[in-house]
Amino acid sequence: MLIAQLSDLHIKADRRKAYGIVDTAAFLERAVTQLLASPKLPDAIVLTGDLVDQGSPDDYALLRELLAPLQRSASQMPCFLVAGNHDESTALRAAFPEHRYLASEASFAHYAIDLTVGALRLIALDTTIPRQGSGMLCAERLRWLDAQLTANPTPTLIAMHHPPFVTGISHMDELGLANRDEFEKLVARHTHVKRIICGHLHRPIEALFGGVIASTCPSTAHQVALNLLPNAPDQFVMEPPGFQLHHWDGVRFVTHTVSVGQYEGPYYFRQGGVLID
Ligand SMILES: [Fe+2]
Ligand SMILES: [Fe+2]
Repeated sequence: MLIAQLSDLHIKADRRKAYGIVDTAAFLERAVTQLLASPKLPDAIVLTGDLVDQGSPDDYALLRELLAPLQRSASQMPCFLVAGNHDESTALRAAFPEHRYLASEASFAHYAIDLTVGALRLIALDTTIPRQGSGMLCAERLRWLDAQLTANPTPTLIAMHHPPFVTGISHMDELGLANRDEFEKLVARHTHVKRIICGHLHRPIEALFGGVIASTCPSTAHQVALNLLPNAPDQFVMEPPGFQLHHWDGVRFVTHTVSVGQYEGPYYFRQGGVLID
């Protein structure tokens, strides 16, 4: 099973530019176009938060339009939406009423879905704190997760916005996830958790967490500047945007990071079966 991860779309109503610079709507259109042109289409798409920039109904209306080509494609890949700190759960649910899983729990926008019955389960966590950039998994959310994992031993992919590890990019770590230790102990107890995919960092980063790989995904638009000095300024750069493809073979996930954009090639390595010199 192939799962595409898109993250940190930061769509703004009226196609306004994020921070006055980034045309996030155009970047998402390019990512969607490139995804649909992939030689092998994914079976499902997970969008790991900061879907829009300000959480307004108009932001979400434009997001709906921009994601529509995915639903119109021949394969009709299901999309699963995860809330980030720039999202607003009530407006998100209202804009996507057919995504009933979003409202399956009253208090938080978390949910569990069988992607292929008995073979792979997706659990999306809601790490948001209203009107705050940082995230948390409070006792209630951790109890819900523990109950979900205890009740069903199917191999599980966890999707969440805030990564559960310290990245070394200090201004983002200040907006990190609280209660990481409790979450890590929980993950380590449930060995059928096979992978944790996150957003928020706007660049690809991996760490071992509770015995599995936890990772963040590039943004479809702007990337967080890579500066590992303490007190690094909070800056973004226009490095190539991207998305990730996670392939589940029944045993492990293998992840490919895709750069969105026009690049030269592909070229052949061989001519007439012989390596070109
Ligand atoms: Fe973001
Ligand atoms: Fe974020």
